[in-house]
Amino acid sequence: MKDKLKDSFGRVHDYLRISVTDRCNLRCVYCMPEEGMVFEPSENILTATEIASVVRVLAELGVRKIRLTGGEPLVRKDIVDIVSMISDVQGIEDIALTTNGIFLGQKAADLKKAGLTRVNISLDSLRADRFSFITRGGTVKRVLQSIDICEKLDLTPLKLNVVLMKGINDDEILDFLEMSLSRAIQIRFIEYMPIGHQTDSWKSSYMPLSHVLEQCEGKGWEVEASEHIYGNGPAENYRIKGAKGSFGLIHPVSDHFCEACNRLRLMADGSIKSCLYWSDERNVRKYIGDDQALKEMFFKALGDKPKNHEMAQALNDERQTHTPTLRRMSQIGG
Ligand code: GTP
Ligand code: 5AD
Ligand code: SF4
Repeated sequence: MKDKLKDSFGRVHDYLRISVTDRCNLRCVYCMPEEGMVFEPSENILTATEIASVVRVLAELGVRKIRLTGGEPLVRKDIVDIVSMISDVQGIEDIALTTNGIFLGQKAADLKKAGLTRVNISLDSLRADRFSFITRGGTVKRVLQSIDICEKLDLTPLKLNVVLMKGINDDEILDFLEMSLSRAIQIRFIEYMPIGHQTDSWKSSYMPLSHVLEQCEGKGWEVEASEHIYGNGPAENYRIKGAKGSFGLIHPVSDHFCEACNRLRLMADGSIKSCLYWSDERNVRKYIGDDQALKEMFFKALGDKPKNHEMAQALNDERQTHTPTLRRMSQIGG
Protein backbone atom coordinates (compact mmCIF):
# COMPACT_ATOMS: atom_id res chain seq x y z
CA MET A 1 0.00 0.00 0.00
CA LYS A 2 1.29 3.44 -0.93
CA ASP A 3 1.57 5.65 2.11
CA LYS A 4 1.06 9.11 0.66
CA LEU A 5 -2.06 10.57 -0.89
CA LYS A 6 -0.52 11.35 -4.26
CA ASP A 7 -2.55 11.75 -7.45
CA SER A 8 -1.53 10.82 -10.97
CA PHE A 9 0.01 14.27 -11.49
CA GLY A 10 2.26 13.90 -8.44
CA ARG A 11 0.26 16.29 -6.24
CA VAL A 12 0.48 15.28 -2.58
CA HIS A 13 -2.76 15.77 -0.65
CA ASP A 14 -2.40 16.79 2.97
CA TYR A 15 -5.52 18.94 3.35
CA LEU A 16 -9.05 17.60 3.90
CA ARG A 17 -12.08 19.88 3.69
CA ILE A 18 -15.04 18.38 5.51
CA SER A 19 -18.55 19.65 4.93
CA VAL A 20 -20.19 18.63 8.21
CA THR A 21 -23.73 19.57 7.13
CA ASP A 22 -25.55 20.71 3.99
CA ARG A 23 -27.85 22.89 6.10
CA CYS A 24 -27.41 26.59 6.64
CA ASN A 25 -29.12 29.34 8.60
CA LEU A 26 -28.71 31.65 5.56
CA ARG A 27 -29.35 31.24 1.82
CA CYS A 28 -26.73 33.33 0.04
CA VAL A 29 -27.63 34.20 -3.52
CA TYR A 30 -24.54 32.50 -5.00
CA CYS A 31 -24.83 29.38 -2.93
CA MET A 32 -28.45 28.26 -2.50
CA PRO A 33 -31.59 28.77 -4.54
CA GLU A 34 -34.18 31.17 -3.16
CA GLU A 35 -36.67 28.39 -2.50
CA GLY A 36 -34.08 26.56 -0.39
CA MET A 37 -32.89 22.99 -0.86
CA VAL A 38 -34.00 19.48 -0.14
CA PHE A 39 -31.55 18.62 2.62
CA GLU A 40 -29.93 15.26 3.14
CA PRO A 41 -31.96 13.25 5.69
CA SER A 42 -30.21 13.25 9.06
CA GLU A 43 -29.68 9.46 9.00
CA ASN A 44 -27.40 9.93 5.96
CA ILE A 45 -25.17 12.47 7.64
CA LEU A 46 -21.82 11.32 9.02
CA THR A 47 -21.72 11.28 12.80
CA ALA A 48 -18.94 12.96 14.76
CA THR A 49 -17.40 9.54 15.43
CA GLU A 50 -17.48 8.63 11.73
CA ILE A 51 -15.88 11.94 10.78
CA ALA A 52 -13.12 11.46 13.35
CA SER A 53 -12.57 7.93 12.09
CA VAL A 54 -12.02 9.13 8.51
CA VAL A 55 -9.66 11.82 9.77
CA ARG A 56 -7.65 9.25 11.74
CA VAL A 57 -7.24 7.05 8.67
CA LEU A 58 -6.24 9.97 6.45
CA ALA A 59 -3.83 11.32 9.06
CA GLU A 60 -2.01 7.99 8.73
CA LEU A 61 -1.67 8.84 5.03
CA GLY A 62 -0.25 12.30 5.63
CA VAL A 63 -3.26 14.62 6.02
CA ARG A 64 -2.22 17.40 8.40
CA LYS A 65 -4.78 20.11 7.85
CA ILE A 66 -8.55 19.92 8.31
CA ARG A 67 -11.11 22.53 7.37
CA LEU A 68 -14.68 22.23 8.61
CA THR A 69 -17.24 23.80 6.32
CA GLY A 70 -20.92 23.35 5.49
CA GLY A 71 -23.57 24.51 4.67
CA GLU A 72 -22.96 26.30 7.92
CA PRO A 73 -20.86 24.13 10.23
CA LEU A 74 -22.10 25.89 13.35
CA VAL A 75 -25.69 24.70 12.86
CA ARG A 76 -24.43 21.27 13.93
CA LYS A 77 -25.11 20.91 17.63
CA ASP A 78 -22.08 18.65 18.10
CA ILE A 79 -19.60 20.91 16.28
CA VAL A 80 -17.48 21.45 19.42
CA ASP A 81 -17.28 17.65 19.90
CA ILE A 82 -16.25 17.22 16.26
CA VAL A 83 -13.40 19.70 16.72
CA SER A 84 -12.37 18.07 19.95
CA MET A 85 -12.36 14.55 18.47
CA ILE A 86 -10.34 15.68 15.46
CA SER A 87 -7.84 17.49 17.64
CA ASP A 88 -7.19 14.20 19.45
CA VAL A 89 -6.08 12.58 16.18
CA GLN A 90 -2.35 12.14 16.02
CA GLY A 91 -0.77 14.02 13.14
CA ILE A 92 -3.42 16.73 12.71
CA GLU A 93 -1.71 20.11 13.04
CA ASP A 94 -4.38 22.56 11.94
CA ILE A 95 -8.18 22.58 12.39
CA ALA A 96 -9.78 25.54 10.65
CA LEU A 97 -13.40 26.56 10.17
CA THR A 98 -15.18 28.37 7.33
CA THR A 99 -18.39 29.93 8.64
CA ASN A 100 -20.88 32.67 7.91
CA GLY A 101 -20.09 34.01 11.38
CA ILE A 102 -23.65 34.47 12.66
CA PHE A 103 -23.33 31.94 15.51
CA LEU A 104 -19.58 32.25 15.86
CA GLY A 105 -19.52 34.85 18.63
CA GLN A 106 -21.34 32.56 21.03
CA LYS A 107 -19.30 29.45 20.14
CA ALA A 108 -15.80 30.77 19.47
CA ALA A 109 -14.40 30.34 22.99
CA ASP A 110 -15.59 26.71 23.26
CA LEU A 111 -14.34 25.93 19.77
CA LYS A 112 -10.93 27.32 20.59
CA LYS A 113 -10.81 25.34 23.82
CA ALA A 114 -11.67 22.20 21.83
CA GLY A 115 -8.70 22.74 19.53
CA LEU A 116 -9.86 25.01 16.70
CA THR A 117 -6.84 26.90 15.38
CA ARG A 118 -8.37 29.51 13.07
CA VAL A 119 -11.45 30.75 11.20
CA ASN A 120 -12.36 32.13 7.80
CA ILE A 121 -15.58 34.14 7.84
CA SER A 122 -17.73 34.82 4.78
CA LEU A 123 -18.66 38.50 4.62
CA ASP A 124 -19.79 39.84 1.26
CA SER A 125 -21.00 43.26 2.36
CA LEU A 126 -20.47 45.65 5.25
CA ARG A 127 -23.83 47.33 4.63
CA ALA A 128 -26.78 46.05 6.63
CA ASP A 129 -29.37 46.19 3.85
CA ARG A 130 -27.10 44.70 1.22
CA PHE A 131 -25.83 41.96 3.54
CA SER A 132 -29.43 41.05 4.23
CA PHE A 133 -30.14 40.95 0.47
CA ILE A 134 -27.13 38.74 -0.36
CA THR A 135 -27.72 36.34 2.53
CA ARG A 136 -31.53 36.53 2.24
CA GLY A 137 -32.14 37.77 5.76
CA GLY A 138 -28.81 37.79 7.65
CA THR A 139 -27.77 40.50 10.14
CA VAL A 140 -24.33 41.91 9.41
CA LYS A 141 -23.94 43.27 12.96
CA ARG A 142 -23.76 39.74 14.33
CA VAL A 143 -20.94 38.83 11.97
CA LEU A 144 -19.03 41.98 12.87
CA GLN A 145 -19.44 41.15 16.58
CA SER A 146 -18.12 37.63 15.93
CA ILE A 147 -15.08 39.08 14.18
CA ASP A 148 -14.34 41.24 17.24
CA ILE A 149 -14.66 38.21 19.52
CA CYS A 150 -12.32 36.08 17.36
CA GLU A 151 -9.74 38.86 17.41
CA LYS A 152 -9.93 39.01 21.21
CA LEU A 153 -9.58 35.23 21.42
CA ASP A 154 -6.60 35.41 19.09
CA LEU A 155 -8.15 32.96 16.62
CA THR A 156 -5.67 34.06 13.99
CA PRO A 157 -4.84 34.54 11.18
CA LEU A 158 -8.42 35.75 10.81
CA LYS A 159 -9.59 35.83 7.21
CA LEU A 160 -12.70 37.39 5.70
CA ASN A 161 -13.98 35.86 2.44
CA VAL A 162 -15.61 38.34 0.06
CA VAL A 163 -17.09 36.84 -3.12
CA LEU A 164 -16.99 39.76 -5.56
CA MET A 165 -20.11 40.14 -7.68
CA LYS A 166 -20.45 42.70 -10.42
CA GLY A 167 -23.19 45.23 -9.68
CA ILE A 168 -23.85 43.66 -6.28
CA ASN A 169 -20.89 44.42 -3.98
CA ASP A 170 -18.06 45.60 -6.23
CA ASP A 171 -18.48 49.17 -4.95
CA GLU A 172 -17.30 48.00 -1.51
CA ILE A 173 -13.78 46.95 -2.50
CA LEU A 174 -12.25 50.09 -0.94
CA ASP A 175 -14.31 49.72 2.25
CA PHE A 176 -12.99 46.20 2.73
CA LEU A 177 -9.43 47.24 1.91
CA GLU A 178 -9.69 50.04 4.48
CA MET A 179 -10.50 47.43 7.11
CA SER A 180 -7.14 45.82 6.36
CA LEU A 181 -5.37 49.13 7.07
CA SER A 182 -6.30 49.28 10.73
CA ARG A 183 -6.93 45.65 11.71
CA ALA A 184 -4.75 42.55 11.60
CA ILE A 185 -7.22 40.77 9.35
CA GLN A 186 -6.80 39.31 5.88
CA ILE A 187 -9.51 40.32 3.41
CA ARG A 188 -9.78 37.71 0.64
CA PHE A 189 -11.54 38.70 -2.54
CA ILE A 190 -12.84 35.63 -4.37
CA GLU A 191 -13.98 35.26 -7.95
CA TYR A 192 -17.52 34.00 -8.31
CA MET A 193 -17.31 30.35 -9.36
CA PRO A 194 -19.85 28.42 -11.42
CA ILE A 195 -20.41 25.61 -8.95
CA GLY A 196 -23.75 23.86 -9.00
CA HIS A 197 -25.27 26.53 -11.20
CA GLN A 198 -27.65 24.96 -13.62
CA THR A 199 -28.04 28.15 -15.61
CA ASP A 200 -25.62 30.75 -16.93
CA SER A 201 -26.94 33.49 -14.67
CA TRP A 202 -23.66 33.60 -12.67
CA LYS A 203 -21.83 34.96 -15.71
CA SER A 204 -23.45 38.38 -15.47
CA SER A 205 -22.23 38.70 -11.85
CA TYR A 206 -18.75 37.29 -12.43
CA MET A 207 -15.87 39.75 -12.38
CA PRO A 208 -12.12 39.20 -12.54
CA LEU A 209 -10.09 40.42 -9.55
CA SER A 210 -7.83 42.77 -11.51
CA HIS A 211 -10.25 45.51 -10.34
CA VAL A 212 -8.95 45.21 -6.78
CA LEU A 213 -5.38 46.17 -7.65
CA GLU A 214 -6.65 48.90 -9.98
CA GLN A 215 -8.63 50.44 -7.13
CA CYS A 216 -5.55 50.47 -4.89
CA GLU A 217 -3.69 52.28 -7.63
CA GLY A 218 -6.52 54.78 -8.03
CA LYS A 219 -6.33 55.52 -4.32
CA GLY A 220 -2.56 56.02 -4.50
CA TRP A 221 -1.91 53.09 -2.14
CA GLU A 222 1.39 51.37 -2.56
CA VAL A 223 0.82 47.62 -2.63
CA GLU A 224 3.51 45.09 -1.80
CA ALA A 225 3.49 41.31 -2.00
CA SER A 226 2.73 40.14 1.52
CA GLU A 227 4.52 37.45 3.47
CA HIS A 228 3.03 33.96 3.25
CA ILE A 229 -0.01 33.71 5.51
CA TYR A 230 -0.56 30.39 7.17
CA GLY A 231 -2.88 28.15 5.22
CA ASN A 232 -3.17 30.32 2.16
CA GLY A 233 -3.36 27.73 -0.54
CA PRO A 234 -5.41 29.47 -3.21
CA ALA A 235 -4.80 33.12 -2.28
CA GLU A 236 -2.20 35.51 -3.69
CA ASN A 237 -1.21 37.75 -0.78
CA TYR A 238 -0.73 41.53 -0.75
CA ARG A 239 -0.42 44.32 1.77
CA ILE A 240 -1.05 48.04 1.43
CA LYS A 241 2.17 49.64 2.63
CA GLY A 242 1.93 50.34 6.35
CA ALA A 243 -1.31 48.36 6.83
CA LYS A 244 -1.80 46.16 9.90
CA GLY A 245 -3.64 43.56 7.87
CA SER A 246 -3.37 42.26 4.34
CA PHE A 247 -5.50 41.19 1.44
CA GLY A 248 -5.63 38.14 -0.77
CA LEU A 249 -6.90 37.41 -4.24
CA ILE A 250 -8.45 34.02 -4.97
CA HIS A 251 -8.97 33.82 -8.73
CA PRO A 252 -9.93 30.29 -9.71
CA VAL A 253 -11.74 31.39 -12.88
CA SER A 254 -9.32 33.86 -14.49
CA ASP A 255 -6.17 32.00 -13.40
CA HIS A 256 -6.52 28.63 -11.74
CA PHE A 257 -4.21 27.23 -9.09
CA CYS A 258 -4.85 23.54 -9.71
CA GLU A 259 -1.21 22.65 -10.31
CA ALA A 260 -0.62 23.21 -6.58
CA CYS A 261 -3.81 21.48 -5.42
CA ASN A 262 -3.41 19.59 -2.14
CA ARG A 263 -7.14 19.28 -1.29
CA LEU A 264 -9.60 16.45 -0.88
CA ARG A 265 -13.22 16.95 0.09
CA LEU A 266 -15.52 14.89 2.25
CA MET A 267 -19.19 15.79 2.11
CA ALA A 268 -21.72 15.46 4.91
CA ASP A 269 -23.23 12.27 3.42
CA GLY A 270 -19.83 10.56 3.22
CA SER A 271 -19.10 11.27 -0.45
CA ILE A 272 -15.55 12.16 -1.32
CA LYS A 273 -14.80 14.62 -4.06
CA SER A 274 -11.30 14.86 -5.41
CA CYS A 275 -12.10 18.14 -7.16
CA LEU A 276 -14.54 20.90 -6.29
CA TYR A 277 -15.61 21.40 -9.89
CA TRP A 278 -16.22 18.00 -11.44
CA SER A 279 -19.03 15.56 -10.79
CA ASP A 280 -16.88 12.55 -9.79
CA GLU A 281 -17.79 11.30 -6.31
CA ARG A 282 -17.43 8.14 -4.27
CA ASN A 283 -19.47 7.49 -1.15
CA VAL A 284 -17.27 5.96 1.54
CA ARG A 285 -19.69 5.80 4.42
CA LYS A 286 -20.05 2.03 4.37
CA TYR A 287 -16.27 1.58 4.45
CA ILE A 288 -15.84 3.51 7.68
CA GLY A 289 -14.54 1.02 10.23
CA ASP A 290 -12.54 -0.91 7.61
CA ASP A 291 -9.41 1.23 7.44
CA GLN A 292 -7.84 -0.62 4.56
CA ALA A 293 -10.94 -0.40 2.37
CA LEU A 294 -11.36 3.27 3.22
CA LYS A 295 -7.78 4.01 2.23
CA GLU A 296 -8.30 2.23 -1.07
CA MET A 297 -11.37 4.35 -1.80
CA PHE A 298 -9.35 7.52 -1.27
CA PHE A 299 -6.53 6.25 -3.49
CA LYS A 300 -9.08 5.41 -6.19
CA ALA A 301 -10.63 8.87 -5.94
CA LEU A 302 -7.20 10.44 -6.25
CA GLY A 303 -6.31 8.21 -9.17
CA ASP A 304 -9.26 9.71 -11.08
CA LYS A 305 -8.60 13.32 -10.08
CA PRO A 306 -8.45 15.52 -13.18
CA LYS A 307 -5.52 17.84 -13.75
CA ASN A 308 -7.60 20.98 -13.44
CA HIS A 309 -11.08 22.43 -13.49
CA GLU A 310 -12.50 24.23 -16.55
CA MET A 311 -14.30 27.26 -15.12
CA ALA A 312 -12.72 29.55 -17.73
CA GLN A 313 -14.11 27.32 -20.46
CA ALA A 314 -17.53 27.51 -18.80
CA LEU A 315 -17.27 31.31 -18.82
CA ASN A 316 -16.54 31.29 -22.55
CA ASP A 317 -19.13 28.62 -23.45
CA GLU A 318 -16.43 26.19 -24.53
CA ARG A 319 -16.84 22.44 -24.38
CA GLN A 320 -15.85 20.75 -21.11
CA THR A 321 -13.80 17.56 -21.03
CA HIS A 322 -15.71 16.03 -18.07
CA THR A 323 -19.10 16.67 -16.46
CA PRO A 324 -19.25 19.61 -14.03
CA THR A 325 -20.88 18.87 -10.69
CA LEU A 326 -24.53 19.59 -10.08
CA ARG A 327 -23.93 19.74 -6.34
CA ARG A 328 -24.51 23.11 -4.79
CA MET A 329 -21.69 24.94 -3.01
CA SER A 330 -23.70 24.55 0.20
CA GLN A 331 -23.27 20.77 -0.13
CA ILE A 332 -19.60 20.78 -1.11
CA GLY A 333 -18.47 23.47 1.32
CA GLY A 334 -16.28 25.48 -1.04
P1 GTP B 1 -6.94 28.68 3.97
O1 GTP B 1 -6.53 27.40 4.55
O2 GTP B 1 -7.12 29.70 5.05
O3 GTP B 1 -6.10 29.16 2.87
O4 GTP B 1 -8.41 28.42 3.43
P2 GTP B 1 -9.05 28.24 2.02
O5 GTP B 1 -8.94 29.51 1.25
O6 GTP B 1 -8.52 27.01 1.40
O7 GTP B 1 -10.57 27.99 2.45
P3 GTP B 1 -11.91 28.81 2.40
O8 GTP B 1 -12.96 27.87 2.88
O9 GTP B 1 -11.81 30.09 3.14
O10 GTP B 1 -12.13 29.09 0.87
C1 GTP B 1 -11.92 30.35 0.24
C2 GTP B 1 -12.36 30.27 -1.20
O11 GTP B 1 -11.46 29.46 -1.92
C3 GTP B 1 -13.76 29.65 -1.37
O12 GTP B 1 -14.45 30.34 -2.37
C4 GTP B 1 -13.43 28.25 -1.81
O13 GTP B 1 -14.46 27.72 -2.59
C5 GTP B 1 -12.19 28.49 -2.62
N1 GTP B 1 -11.38 27.27 -2.68
C6 GTP B 1 -10.80 26.60 -1.66
N2 GTP B 1 -10.17 25.51 -2.11
C7 GTP B 1 -10.35 25.49 -3.46
C8 GTP B 1 -9.93 24.64 -4.49
O14 GTP B 1 -9.32 23.61 -4.28
N3 GTP B 1 -10.31 24.95 -5.75
C9 GTP B 1 -11.03 26.05 -6.05
N4 GTP B 1 -11.32 26.27 -7.31
N5 GTP B 1 -11.44 26.89 -5.10
C10 GTP B 1 -11.11 26.62 -3.83
N1 5AD C 1 -17.96 31.21 -5.82
C1 5AD C 1 -16.95 31.59 -5.00
N2 5AD C 1 -16.96 31.41 -3.67
C2 5AD C 1 -18.06 30.85 -3.15
N3 5AD C 1 -18.37 30.55 -1.88
C3 5AD C 1 -19.59 29.97 -1.86
N4 5AD C 1 -20.08 29.89 -3.12
C4 5AD C 1 -19.15 30.45 -3.94
C5 5AD C 1 -19.07 30.65 -5.34
N5 5AD C 1 -20.04 30.28 -6.17
C6 5AD C 1 -17.51 30.84 -0.75
C7 5AD C 1 -18.25 31.24 0.50
C8 5AD C 1 -17.36 30.76 1.61
C9 5AD C 1 -16.44 29.77 0.96
C10 5AD C 1 -16.46 28.41 1.55
O1 5AD C 1 -16.84 29.65 -0.39
O2 5AD C 1 -18.43 32.62 0.56
O3 5AD C 1 -16.60 31.81 2.16
FE1 SF4 D 1 -8.03 21.37 -6.86
FE2 SF4 D 1 -10.16 21.04 -8.31
FE3 SF4 D 1 -9.82 23.21 -6.78
FE4 SF4 D 1 -8.41 22.85 -9.00
S1 SF4 D 1 -10.63 23.16 -8.79
S2 SF4 D 1 -7.62 23.58 -7.07
S3 SF4 D 1 -8.08 20.64 -8.96
S4 SF4 D 1 -10.08 21.11 -6.12
